[in-house]
Amino acid sequence: MSAVLQSLAAENDIVRLEGVHKDFGGPKVLEDVTFSLSQGHVHSLIGPNGAGKTTLLNIVSCLYRPSAGRVLIDGHDTATLAPHALATLGVCRTFQNLKICRNMTVRENILLGAHVGLQGGLWAGILRLPALVRRDRELSDKVQDLLALVGLDVSPDSLPDAMSYGALKRLELARALIRTPRLLLLDEPAAGLNPSEKVEMGRIIERLAAQHITVVLIEHDMKLVMGVSDHVVVLNYGRCIAQGTPTEVARDPDVIAAYLGTK
Ligand SMILES: Nc1ncnc2c1ncn2[C@@H]1O[C@H](COP(=O)(O)OP(=O)(O)O)[C@@H](O)[C@H]1O
Ligand SMILES: [Mg+2]
Repeated sequence: MSAVLQSLAAENDIVRLEGVHKDFGGPKVLEDVTFSLSQGHVHSLIGPNGAGKTTLLNIVSCLYRPSAGRVLIDGHDTATLAPHALATLGVCRTFQNLKICRNMTVRENILLGAHVGLQGGLWAGILRLPALVRRDRELSDKVQDLLALVGLDVSPDSLPDAMSYGALKRLELARALIRTPRLLLLDEPAAGLNPSEKVEMGRIIERLAAQHITVVLIEHDMKLVMGVSDHVVVLNYGRCIAQGTPTEVARDPDVIAAYLGTK
């Protein structure tokens, strides 16, 4: 790539991983991983179980520090950032295992996503400062919009205990969206969904991308990955073995070998 094209590409990058390594005191879980996330694109992270996908997401979201290498978000080295500072950079995520509170309403579950790194802190809440009351009202209005965006036809005042697993996954997604992220990290949002729910999840991800949200999707369903991704990164035993458009990675001999066990 020419220097001009390279600098244009870099300008469009929201995240850049440079030679990221990770171990937890034992064998390497990630080895020399380098790739970039372009603004407004859907990037899928695929690879067999244990390949290091969740670890990579945990590193981008500052839950883990790389053992070597660096992660830049908007050009800021995340080594200097606390996890709660990420929300101010517009980074939000969901987790591989559902984290829904069954004894809180749908609205309360979604608003939980807004409580990270709030301005004003505890005293603003106790004193019910006008700015905080106004913010809560605005966010409550937004809950309705988010329920529509993720295709959930439930009352914000209902409890989630009667909701199906697929609906709970979408509720978790709505929570990650309450702060209007620029970068959304989704760890297997479609795992455990039935085929029609997977198609619906794909449509939701396309709607998010249309709103210029950069998405990182960890997913095993190749039909979903191939359908929604602009860019696919393939991890195998902690190494990035291929990256490119869905078509490029689908015909990469190393990817075929990793998935089918043959060259
Ligand atoms: N906190 C941790 N401590 C020790 N090992 C871990 C930790 N997190 C992940 N691992 C190991 O890292 C490897 C990759 O795990 P993970 O990133 O969860 O893979 P994937 O999401 O691709 O299935 C696994 O061998 C796992 O046991
Ligand atoms: Mg995982």
